[in-house]
Amino acid sequence: MSAHTASQIKANAGAGANTNANQPIGSRAKTALNVSATFWLTIVIIGQVAFAIFIAGFYGVSSVQGNFAAWAKNTTLLKGYVAGDSTGNLFFAAHMLIAVVIASCGVLQLIPQIRARAAAFHRWNGRIFMLAIGGQCEWAVSHMDQENDCESGWCVCH
Ligand code: HEM
Repeated sequence: MSAHTASQIKANAGAGANTNANQPIGSRAKTALNVSATFWLTIVIIGQVAFAIFIAGFYGVSSVQGNFAAWAKNTTLLKGYVAGDSTGNLFFAAHMLIAVVIASCGVLQLIPQIRARAAAFHRWNGRIFMLAIGGQCEWAVSHMDQENDCESGWCVCH
C-alpha cells in the first residue's frame, strides 16, 4: 500500500469513519480477507477429503474385493452395477477411480504453501488434474446410455 493511501486511511479513521484509530482500516480489511480465505479453504479441503474418502471407501473397497454388486447399496445411482455388463461396470469403476484423483489433486492445487514451496509438484499435479477432468467428462459422456439416461432426466443428449 502506498504511503499516500495509508495516510488517507488514517485521516478517514480520525474523521470518525473508524472508531479504532490504533488500527488502520487497510490492515483490518487484510486480516478479514485472510480469515475468510482460510475459512473457505478449510471448508473446501474438508469437503474434498470427505468426497475422496467416500468414493475410495464405498466404491474402491468393493471394487478391489470384486464385489461390484455392493454398489447397489447406493440406491440413488441411475444404473450402478449391472450384472453381465462388464464394460459398463468397468467404466463406472474407472469413473470412480478418476474421481478420487480429481478430488485429491484438485485440493492440493489450492494449498498456498505447496504452490510456494513445491512449484514443480504444483505444475505436474495440475497437468494430472486437467487430464483427469478432461478424461472423466469425455469418457462419461461417450459411455452414457442415451435412451436410459434421457428417460431418467440425467442426460446430455438433447
Ligand atoms: C461431463 C462429465 C460427467 C458425466 C457425463 C458424468 C456422468 C455420471 C453418471 C451418468 C453417473 C451416474 C452413474 C449411475 O448412476 O449409474 C455419475 C456418477 C458419479 N460421478 Fe460422474 N460424470 C461426469 C463428471 C464427473 C466428475 C468430474 C466427477 C468427480 C470429480 C464425477 C464423479 C462421480 C461420482 C463420485 C459418481 C457417483 C455418485 C454417487 O455415488 O451417487 N463425475 N457420473
